[in-house]
Amino acid sequence: MEGLVPVNGSEEALESIDHTALEAAGFEGKPGQTVTLPHPEAKAVLLVGLGEEASFESIRSASGNAVRNVKTAHVVNLLARVDIEGATRAVVEGTLLGGYQFRAYKTSDDGLDAEVVDIVGADDTEMDAAVLGCEATILAREWVDTPAKDKSPETLAGLIEESAEAAGISVEIWDKPRIETERLGALLGVAAGSDRDPRVVILQYRPDGAKTHLALVGKGIIFDTGGLSLKTAALMEEMKDDMSGAAAVSAATIGIARLGIPVNVTAISPLTDNAVGGDATRPGDVLRPVDGPTIEVLNTDAEGRLILADGLGLAKRFEPDLTIDVATLTGAAAVALGKQVAAVFGSDPDVSAQILAAAAQAAEEFWELPLFKGYRKSIDSNIADIKNISSGRYGGAIVAALFLAEYAGDGPWAHVDIAGPARSAETTGEFVKGASGVGVRTLIEVARQMAETG
Ligand code: BES
Ligand code: MN
Ligand code: ZN
Repeated sequence: MEGLVPVNGSEEALESIDHTALEAAGFEGKPGQTVTLPHPEAKAVLLVGLGEEASFESIRSASGNAVRNVKTAHVVNLLARVDIEGATRAVVEGTLLGGYQFRAYKTSDDGLDAEVVDIVGADDTEMDAAVLGCEATILAREWVDTPAKDKSPETLAGLIEESAEAAGISVEIWDKPRIETERLGALLGVAAGSDRDPRVVILQYRPDGAKTHLALVGKGIIFDTGGLSLKTAALMEEMKDDMSGAAAVSAATIGIARLGIPVNVTAISPLTDNAVGGDATRPGDVLRPVDGPTIEVLNTDAEGRLILADGLGLAKRFEPDLTIDVATLTGAAAVALGKQVAAVFGSDPDVSAQILAAAAQAAEEFWELPLFKGYRKSIDSNIADIKNISSGRYGGAIVAALFLAEYAGDGPWAHVDIAGPARSAETTGEFVKGASGVGVRTLIEVARQMAETG
């Protein structure tokens, strides 16, 4: 992977700063204030103010904003002067994630020039761990930012396989005949409208000393046209992002393996287009997932829950201690929480608390919504066991979560709806317009906490 390389910088870089020049430039260290000074070794030094009350978030954000202003080979951060827990990680995340650029389809060469992040006073262990978390996040971003034309289920499965095998993870890829043999009828129903065959990617990380098992399931819709319940042009624009859940769980598993966290992880990603074709699933058709209730499809645009039904059905077979699914599942989640906050549902309050604690530690924005059973009857079907939409439009994120609960089994399970935060609308702090890689660092943190508590 190309990109920035962080190194542990020396105090000399700090000492060489000319304080008279700082004063002359009117630099007071106010939040977001920047000044560029000439430097004997580097071409220049960029200083970024953090204000009086620096925090993990303000350091990360300032680092991201700084890196995008740099046109020289080095960035020097005033980290040594900041006494804040996780300051090294904040600088690494800000610079690596904020400096992320997806330039595979650009012909010009006018990207950012910075290559090395010189972190003064960095904690080495913290830096190494943070770099791995960022690299996993960037892996997910690259997959999501890739146009749907260039990531067919087959191609994306291959990309995931390549990175996972390099991290020592065993990889299984099921093609369409295998998916038919395994009777994943819901995935096949969604795939029926596409000329590109579906795949299921199963990653298994089995480190020595693992005492617990984490199962992950990711929504991998390569492009969501809505199917016969076709989306409008405006709503379809960003639907290459609809495999962000699969990207998150796969990249997180790779991050967990590269970090050597002693937890068994199984990550299952059903991959398919949701397209329009002569044999596409019609409203009113009934699908049979591998396990659990039969499904009357009344809206082919509620397809994520269909492929997740099969994904969760497979996950159950591994008898994990915890199952988490991640999906760009409902516009309703984005309406409820906006573009920057993921919705969390837990099978019980302990599970939700566990996910929220990991997200807080990873400094990702997650918020709990209720798995309110009162809405369950709204998806009773006339002719099948269950239908894939309710009649009204209210509470759509909760209804979708209740649907998934039918397939998650009786063990601890959480559902994370990332329809809002999968994509950043703007470039700010550690975010760059486009894929965010949301969820990757939280899932890694969940594994870390499982390894600690056994
Ligand atoms: N992939 C969409 C959800 C989505 C919407 C993600 C906006 C990101 C941004 C999902 O498959 C979908 O179409 N959901 C429908 C469900 C409805 C038909 C019950 C939705 O939210 O409108
Ligand atoms: Mn859809
Ligand atoms: Zn979708």
